[in-house]
Amino acid sequence: MKGSSVDDCKIVDIRKFSDSRGYLSVIEGGLDIPFEIKRIYYLYLVPEAARGAHAHKQLQQLMVATSGSLHVTLDDGQNKKTFVLDKPWKGLLVVPGLWRTLEHFSGGAVCMVLASEKYDADDYIRDYKTFLEYKGLCD
Ligand code: TYD
Repeated sequence: MKGSSVDDCKIVDIRKFSDSRGYLSVIEGGLDIPFEIKRIYYLYLVPEAARGAHAHKQLQQLMVATSGSLHVTLDDGQNKKTFVLDKPWKGLLVVPGLWRTLEHFSGGAVCMVLASEKYDADDYIRDYKTFLEYKGLCD
């Protein structure tokens, strides 16, 4: 997804069921989101410094603040967009080929990430200049 743009990403509503016992949200791979879920990981007890600062070549993700709030900044090399995740029934669909930074975690924030692939270190681009080259934006 070398040609992907920040405009390909969006906040989606996550199905929720509520009654006198509270809320329940559900995400089914391939139904609520456009990929099958092969992996789930979550970030928590994150201090001041930002996380992320990398891009993926193939991986699709849905990021959800299941508790608290955080900011996700996406960058396609030409444009940046910052999304605030602060509700467990809202998720950010992130397409491949974007540089991402996760920061400003509130106290107690948990960021759950549903991923389309198993962990693959070779899918990561961790150097910004290499990322711009990958996007065809460097001489
Ligand atoms: P890292 O990619 O540095 O975190 P961030 O998403 O904030 O950039 O991951 C931290 C460590 O966790 C690193 O040693 C790789 C490991 N890791 C796995 O083993 N499996 C996974 O699915 C993920 C996301 C990370």
